[in-house]
Amino acid sequence: MISKDMATRMSNQLNMELYSAYFYLALSSRAETGSLKGISDWFMAKHFEEQAHAMKIYHYLKDQDVDIQLQAITAPPAEEMSVLQMLEATLEHEREVTKAINDLVDHALTEKDHATNIFLQWFVTEQIEEEATVGEILGRLRLFGDKPEGLLMIDNELGVMAATLAQAGAAGPSIG
Ligand code: FEO
Repeated sequence: MISKDMATRMSNQLNMELYSAYFYLALSSRAETGSLKGISDWFMAKHFEEQAHAMKIYHYLKDQDVDIQLQAITAPPAEEMSVLQMLEATLEHEREVTKAINDLVDHALTEKDHATNIFLQWFVTEQIEEEATVGEILGRLRLFGDKPEGLLMIDNELGVMAATLAQAGAAGPSIG
């Protein structure tokens, strides 16, 4: 069984992953309202991915016999955002998640908690991929600003990416 302190920190991460899911659901909704179906589907795929991350942590904690105390999930930002702002907010958020995961690894190493350290390595790798993907999309979007031709190109691309994720079964049951 892991320490009480480690369990609390991991429970906080579970909450952060659920917030991430909630955050991307809000962005998916906003994109759909703006008639950007591909971008909406991509954020929906991210919503399901974050749910899966949360459940990975949940099952790990249950396997470690932790009595999880679930906490309230913060509401996502409600203000209007351009697509560029949505992607910028996404990258900023993923960087915060990366920092939180790194802090958890640091703590696991301090405690010599090898099981939690090994468990967290999947998340370390996942964060590299997530930041890289968002950074690449953002880079291309910045070339266009929020001009319609750029938005349509990104909308098409993200729609294809979301469909691929859905086919792979990684994007949850209700894409499309
Ligand atoms: Fe689960 Fe995107 O961090």
